[in-house]
Amino acid sequence: MFSPNEILNDLPISRLPRRVLSYTQIGSTMDAAREHLHSAGEDTLPMLVIAGEQTAGRGRQKRPWYAPPESALLFSLALRPSWMRPADASVLVWMTGVALCEGIQEQVGIEPRMKWPNDVLLQSKKIAGILLETSSGQDSLHYAVLGCGINVSASPPPETVRYPATHLTAVLNHEIDRLALLRAVLVRLDYWYSNLQDDMGSTRVTLFKTWHDKLETLGKHIQIQTASGMLEGVAEDVELSGALRLRDTGGGMHLISSGDIFGPPIHQS
Ligand code: BTN
Repeated sequence: MFSPNEILNDLPISRLPRRVLSYTQIGSTMDAAREHLHSAGEDTLPMLVIAGEQTAGRGRQKRPWYAPPESALLFSLALRPSWMRPADASVLVWMTGVALCEGIQEQVGIEPRMKWPNDVLLQSKKIAGILLETSSGQDSLHYAVLGCGINVSASPPPETVRYPATHLTAVLNHEIDRLALLRAVLVRLDYWYSNLQDDMGSTRVTLFKTWHDKLETLGKHIQIQTASGMLEGVAEDVELSGALRLRDTGGGMHLISSGDIFGPPIHQS
């Protein structure tokens, strides 16, 4: 795994990350980041926790997330954004999705798209996933851990995933410099996080628009698993809150704040 020096050397960032913890193997970078948050001084945050391999990596809905050693970028950011209201936490997911898309595009020259709410796609297949775990009080976030897994040279076997997945090497047909990719993503994360911290109001609007424009899901006929069951229909748009507006096959409208889109097929409506 890359050393903190290799990651940070001459990186044009202003405040993210301030500290890097790098492991060859770990259970989950999410847990390590959360443990560090309990005792971490402000001067060490945001902190990047990165691993070459995870033995207990997890995805959304507590699903396992496994990648062969050194085949992916597996990292979490430990943040203490006390200036954010709990209701705004989804902005962190938009920020991460947008930063992953921008970093990948800069490194490989192809523009990724997104599957609502937070999967990064290349050629309509999942290339990266994002996991946000937070703890909050009534008015502010106590902490947030943002986890990212980018498939670089391997992707999970088809029978283990709910949506077609791929990896960067397969799409591009050449090897990818994982360190360069990580650094490119960090530069974009730093850009957006610094802007959010300095001017939440206008950066939230810009991020929403940027995230919205990357959503491949919009206008498509989808099947989505929600807390209240499976729904099928057209994903018409997203609200400013980030919730998805789905018109079901009977014409009913649903506002979905969290769910899992299945595939394939995703066909044009
Ligand atoms: C998803 O698409 O379900 C989210 C996947 C998030 C995976 C990353 S890998 C690094 C970090 N550590 C974890 O255990 N999970 C996240």
